Amino acid sequence: MDSLFSSEPDQNNAQNEKYEARSERTVTADSSAYFGSQYPESIGATALSIALIGPSEERRGAAMRAMAGSAGNEVREFSSYPASLDEVPKMLDQHFDVVILDLDADPEYALELVESICATGPVTVMVYSEKSDPDLLLRCMRAGAREFLTIPLDGNIVAEALVRAAARRPVVKTTKKSAGRLLTFIGAKGGAGATTIACNFAVALAQDPNQKTLLVDLDLPLGDAALNLGIAAEYSTINALQSTNRLDASFLSQLLVKHSSGVSVLAAPGKFIPYEASDEAIDRLFEVARQDFDNVVVDWGSRLDFSGTAVLKESTTIYLVTQAGIPELRNSNRLIQQFFQGSSPRLEIVINRYEPRSLGVAEEHITKALTRPAQWKIPNDYPSVRKMQINATPLALADTPIARLIKQMAKAATGQSEVQAKKKGFSLFG
Ligand SMILES: Nc1ncnc2c1ncn2[C@@H]1O[C@H](COP(=O)(O)OP(=O)(O)O)[C@@H](O)[C@H]1O
Ligand SMILES: [Mg+2]
Repeated sequence: MDSLFSSEPDQNNAQNEKYEARSERTVTADSSAYFGSQYPESIGATALSIALIGPSEERRGAAMRAMAGSAGNEVREFSSYPASLDEVPKMLDQHFDVVILDLDADPEYALELVESICATGPVTVMVYSEKSDPDLLLRCMRAGAREFLTIPLDGNIVAEALVRAAARRPVVKTTKKSAGRLLTFIGAKGGAGATTIACNFAVALAQDPNQKTLLVDLDLPLGDAALNLGIAAEYSTINALQSTNRLDASFLSQLLVKHSSGVSVLAAPGKFIPYEASDEAIDRLFEVARQDFDNVVVDWGSRLDFSGTAVLKESTTIYLVTQAGIPELRNSNRLIQQFFQGSSPRLEIVINRYEPRSLGVAEEHITKALTRPAQWKIPNDYPSVRKMQINATPLALADTPIARLIKQMAKAATGQSEVQAKKKGFSLFG
């Protein structure tokens, strides 16, 4: 290998070269070209992304050949060191699992590079050198190098080092879970049925074991969602809103109570606590909740002071729960006119306790007041609702007309019957 060094007149100045794309090429190592099938098959399954940095073409070529047994890995060759340590983060932006560095071209600078690369990202750094100097080896390890490979490079040793690098690689690289759905129930007027429908809707969603569903009672301070589900909670929404500085998924999970249906519930307090939540606290609560849950169902109650929060903008769907009575329709009309004109988020109108042949307000007047047809009409079924309250058994788990409709709403919310909904002309803004 000695002759190789003398044939590299520019190697000591290598770091001064501009470290750019022109100096690299991508090669997918293929075992069969060099070594037949002598390497374990499991190595191919590791599929590492490798940067091979070596100013000496000869030594780099030797390293490439030594890696040829590790089929499936993607190797990018760089014919010069990064021009300065400042370029290391840019290089690591390319998400290499392994950086293999020629030590001999400029040992002192190479050691600085090792240290800088190790400090910047979760990368396995290996060095190769023709000198097996224990002092140099120790300095490399102190700088953070995981493997010291000596020339002549042994394919098996390199392959084993790559297997170790694959095992060290973080399992999840940068998968960011998208925020869960925010499904907000607003009552046009107290008693319209927002809580009844929100609770049963959440129970219906929770029947899907692949989805985590949370019900948040924001009808403060007197919300009765937990009572509707027959559960008692130790902590409340107020605890969450008062602790936004340390609110994260793990803290939130400690405030929740789980209903037998699978729904997690953030309940309103069990006793009267006068409390005025800030818009920022509400927004933070939803942000944290949606990081952890696929569905966040909100019982907003009949408070109309949501314009300062991000709820209108952020909700996947807002369900305006109303009834076919004059006061409810009047409130609905005002709300729709004020908040849901033009490019508002998805609003769905739910007429609760609906009786088609009632002598109440005529259908055309209902549609006129609502300015659009209602998406959902939930029948009036006092015996079922009463039974639910007495037995604390959610309506959504029974087989009644109300339950069927609420299940249909839940399916539509998770996109399972969008086509069906469109066919029926349910789309509001389409
Ligand atoms: N579809 C329905 N049929 C019969 N009674 C209902 C129905 N929906 C709600 N109720 C009853 O109406 C009352 C008010 O409902 P609730 O959900 O608490 O309203 P809100 O939360 O909007 O104030 C409750 O006693 C509830 O049991
Ligand atoms: Mg309520």
